[in-house]
Amino acid sequence: MFKIYSNEKIADGIFKMILEAPLVSARARAGQFMMIRIDEQGERIPLTIADISDKTITIVYQVAGVTTHRLTEKKSGEYVSDVVGPLGHATDTDKIGTVCCVGGGVGIAELYPVAKAYKNAGNNVIIIIGARNKELLIFKKELEFLGAEMFVVTDDGSFGEKGFVTNVLKKLIDTGRIINLVYAVGPGVMMEAVSNLTKPYGVKTLVSLNTVLVDGTGMCGSCRIQVGTETKFACVDGPEFDGHLVNYKELKARQSLFKEQENHACKIRGI
Ligand SMILES: Cc1cc2nc3c(=O)[nH]c(=O)nc-3n(C[C@H](O)[C@H](O)[C@H](O)COP(=O)(O)OP(=O)(O)OC[C@H]3O[C@@H](n4cnc5c(N)ncnc54)[C@H](O)[C@@H]3O)c2cc1C
Ligand code: FES
Repeated sequence: MFKIYSNEKIADGIFKMILEAPLVSARARAGQFMMIRIDEQGERIPLTIADISDKTITIVYQVAGVTTHRLTEKKSGEYVSDVVGPLGHATDTDKIGTVCCVGGGVGIAELYPVAKAYKNAGNNVIIIIGARNKELLIFKKELEFLGAEMFVVTDDGSFGEKGFVTNVLKKLIDTGRIINLVYAVGPGVMMEAVSNLTKPYGVKTLVSLNTVLVDGTGMCGSCRIQVGTETKFACVDGPEFDGHLVNYKELKARQSLFKEQENHACKIRGI
């Protein structure tokens, strides 16, 4: 059993939970995720480890269906039955020069540990974050605290510049800024747009994929994704891949693989 320290709403439909998980936090590194199961009847879902302390891990989740909805009902002092992790490869955060970290939506929280690790490794970090509107903008203060150059955009212009993260990234590249690596995490369409933008410029781009995971250990094949000529499993080979090689059409199709069952599960629970 894993004790919940806190579970607070940080934006419309987005929650931050701090869990006691000392064995996970002792080994977790930026870019990794864990599988969580609320109770013995629950399904296992993957969530990125957004922050790590001595005994605790922080997760930030967007309410998407039954499990994330049920998570919102948990109170501090209560427990979840299973936390398995850290899973996936950690981000390789060597010193490589200038790294542009791009985050969209709930992906902004997933970007935080990665931007922090690149900064701590001595890289020049540029952060670009975007959300649909200011109510959905998360982790701005935490990212500001890293002291990196930072740009904020919203689709509707309610905070920061109006537009998409790709507008800012394009401007930076077009004005001659040398960027050695772009790291993007967020909705599939955003990661695809970032990769399409950087490809003709030859800027290396990593994306953190959110394919549907079932076991998270490379056994079931549900998270498979074509990367270049190879078939990869996001849970054990990723979740980060070369953004220029990912088959985004397949990614989008596979994300709705269990849509019927998910809708049915929501319906019978009145969500
Ligand atoms: C490596 C990884 C890290 C992730 N990190 C985060 C995170 O930090 N914060 C966050 O809000 N979300 C994250 N996700 C997505 C998150 O796992 C899904 O939103 C969650 O599983 C939804 O479950 P549900 O029962 O609430 O919704 P459902 O109604 O079951 O599903 C809603 C949608 O969520 C996605 N989804 C459902 N089940 C899974 C699953 N087992 N694996 C992956 N996606 C699924 C599908 O696109 C689905 O259409 C991550 C996904 C992956 C693969
Ligand atoms: S989730 Fe089963 S192989 Fe990746």
